[in-house]
Amino acid sequence: MTKKVKNIAVLTSGGDAPGMNAAIRAVVRACSYYKVNCFGIYKGYEGLIHNEIEELNARSVRNIINKGGTFLKSARSKEFRTEEGRKKAFDNLVKNNIDALIVIGGDGSFTGALKLSEEYGFPVVGIPGTIDNDINGTDYTIGYDTALNTVVEAIDKIRDTASSHNRLFLIEVMGRDAGDIALNSGIGAGAEEILIPEEDMGVDRLIESLRKSKKTGKTSSIIVIAEGDKSGKNIFELGEYVEENLEEDYEVRVSVLGHIQRGGSPSCYDRVLASKLGVGAVEALLEGKSEVMVGIVHKTVTIVPLTTALEKRIHKHDQLIKVADITSV
Ligand code: F6P
Repeated sequence: MTKKVKNIAVLTSGGDAPGMNAAIRAVVRACSYYKVNCFGIYKGYEGLIHNEIEELNARSVRNIINKGGTFLKSARSKEFRTEEGRKKAFDNLVKNNIDALIVIGGDGSFTGALKLSEEYGFPVVGIPGTIDNDINGTDYTIGYDTALNTVVEAIDKIRDTASSHNRLFLIEVMGRDAGDIALNSGIGAGAEEILIPEEDMGVDRLIESLRKSKKTGKTSSIIVIAEGDKSGKNIFELGEYVEENLEEDYEVRVSVLGHIQRGGSPSCYDRVLASKLGVGAVEALLEGKSEVMVGIVHKTVTIVPLTTALEKRIHKHDQLIKVADITSV
């Protein structure tokens, strides 16, 4: 028989994402609602290894639903990747009488959670929190919607100056392995071309397409590029290549949006998503579930095995790529 869960701990790990605070808040308040104790672990797995743990109550999470970042702080822990690191982490969970763990983060964080559970039989539940939207088994990850809005707002501003100067802008957005941010923000902000990690359009096709755009009367252009695109050139090299190979007199500028994409007050969508998944995670643990992720599929809170969450996502970008092509003629 599985042990009754009375003390739940929560941590945020990996790259932070807007809405993580809202998720922590939902976990803490669900614990309070179901009358179980809740503990916050600071700095992700790093804090667990160093016993930076504090009990939280419903009032500890007041006034944070609207705040970006994570008040529990986050880290990418190298030590937790080692067996010794995980042993220290487990010992601290036992020392604090914690009997289940909720991990808010992305694939690296879930891999760590799964290892802890496999090695020590410790109950774990994951909540997808990353701006990349690159987790299998959930339609959306916490932070993605906010990041998209941030990116679109930034590109809108760049468009103003691009059009004033008849310039071509290459804009780099986050996404090492996933083109979700690039593709959706690109369509939303009316980009001429979008380069994503999942498809290699080739630099020559890009030049060809820009020539065509110029011929149809476009005087400025926006190209959105995911940081993990497969052109084989970094964005500055790509900028030079475009400038050298486009016969038309086009001034090229490069803009890397960087970490502003990870900050800011979460959108209403992310706050609600985080609230649903936080409550869902506590309920899953109280129902005796472990090694699962709580995600959202067709607007419904859905539980999938962590192994499924860690599988490579089969991207469904075809429709979006077509829409981007059609709307940028
Ligand atoms: O995983 C989220 C993410 O923001 C990626 O899009 C990006 O590649 C990476 O984190 C950046 O990580 P760091 O903040 O450690 O430089």
